[in-house]
This record gives sequence, structure tokens and C-alpha cells, in this order.
Amino acid sequence: MDPNIAVNIYHFLSQTRELFGDELFVQKSNAIENRSSDNKFPESLEEFYSQINNCLNCQLGYKRTKFVFGVGDPNADLLLVGEAPGVDEDRLGEPFVGRAGKLLDKILAAIHLNRNKGVYICNVLKCRPPNNRDPLPSEVDQCEPYLQHQIRLIKPKLIVALGRVAGKTLLKHDVPLKAMREKIHYYENIPLIVTYHPAALLRNSGFKPPTWKDFQWIQSILDGKTNIG
Ligand code: URA
Repeated sequence: MDPNIAVNIYHFLSQTRELFGDELFVQKSNAIENRSSDNKFPESLEEFYSQINNCLNCQLGYKRTKFVFGVGDPNADLLLVGEAPGVDEDRLGEPFVGRAGKLLDKILAAIHLNRNKGVYICNVLKCRPPNNRDPLPSEVDQCEPYLQHQIRLIKPKLIVALGRVAGKTLLKHDVPLKAMREKIHYYENIPLIVTYHPAALLRNSGFKPPTWKDFQWIQSILDGKTNIG
């Protein structure tokens, strides 16, 4: 057997065991249906939601309460991407609705935006990882095409990754947050900025001034006052 296949099987079974103990995880056929070519490229976010909201492509689908697709303005210039739903988001089916989300709403209001005007908010993963652990690479591999489709439908001018995990996941580069901040990166050819996750600001208020600086920069890019080339 090809050693790469053996390594992949080993990792898949280890992850399955981590999530389900010794119960063997068997993917159901409707998970495969979600990937079938019958699903034409959606013309709207609503259509896309209806195509994927029953997703069982990874283990997280079997554990979720609600699929957390995303929320906001379908024509947004600004796309905010978090890591994955937490307990509140899993319960309500909307991203950033807990304490961190309330803080995010305040930050957006300070730059005259809100989640229904000029902004779309979603996560790298659409289902909650158990105990809010970091997304596994296999989960990102399954879920990232959904984010890519959302981006193609929304066509934002700017993407902002909230936190190190969203940043490293989108940039495929595992470096500290400080090394990702204050730079223009690109995701799917769209400029991308990485800033602190609002939950980090709740834990450490020292992160508020640099975050405010980032959002002022974001505002000036969106207003066309700063040219990013
Ligand atoms: N943290 C995230 O990264 N996303 C959410 O939706 C909520 C908390």
C-alpha cells in the first residue's frame, strides 16, 4: 500500500476515535450527495444554503444542533471570517451571537457598519467542534469549499480573518497572529487582513487598541481612502 494512504487512514481513524471513542464512524450516502455534480453552482446564498445545510461530509455534522451558514448583506464589501461556531452559535444557527459577537457588533458600529449593512459574517467551519477545540485539518478540507463558494457569490472587496486560527487556516501558514497583522494578504485573489478575534479582546483588553487600529485601517480601505493596490 502507498505509505501516504496508510498515513491518511491512520490520521482519519485517530481523529474519529478522538471524537467518537471506539465507535466506528461510517459516512452516510447523503453526505456524498452533497458533493454530487447534480448540485449546480448556486446563483444565490439562499440557494447555496439549501444545497448544503444538511451536510454530513465530516464528523461534526453528526454532532451539531444547527448548521451555521453565515449572516449579513449578500452584497457586502467586507467579509468577516471567524473560526467555527461556538455553543451559542450552534444553538441559534447564526455566527457570532455570544459575548464575542456582541463585542464584534460594537466594533462594526464604530466604523458605521452592521451585520445587515455592508458586512457578511461567516466561519471557516459551519459546524461546532466539540469543546470549541481548533478545527482539524480534515474538517477544514471538507468545509473550505463552502467558504470559497460564499466568497464567489458575495464578491467582497476585503476579507478580514478574525483571530490566529482563521488567519492560519485561510493563509495555510501557521505563524503567530502578530506576524499576520498589519499586512495585506490574499485569499482567492481578494485582499485579506488578519486581526484579533473578539473573544481575545474579552480575555485581554490590551488587544483592544491594536484591534481598533486595524478596524480604522479596514474602514479607510473600504472608503477608498487607503489604496491597497
Ligand atoms: N467564534 C467564532 O470564531 N465564530 C463564531 O461564530 C463564534 C465565536
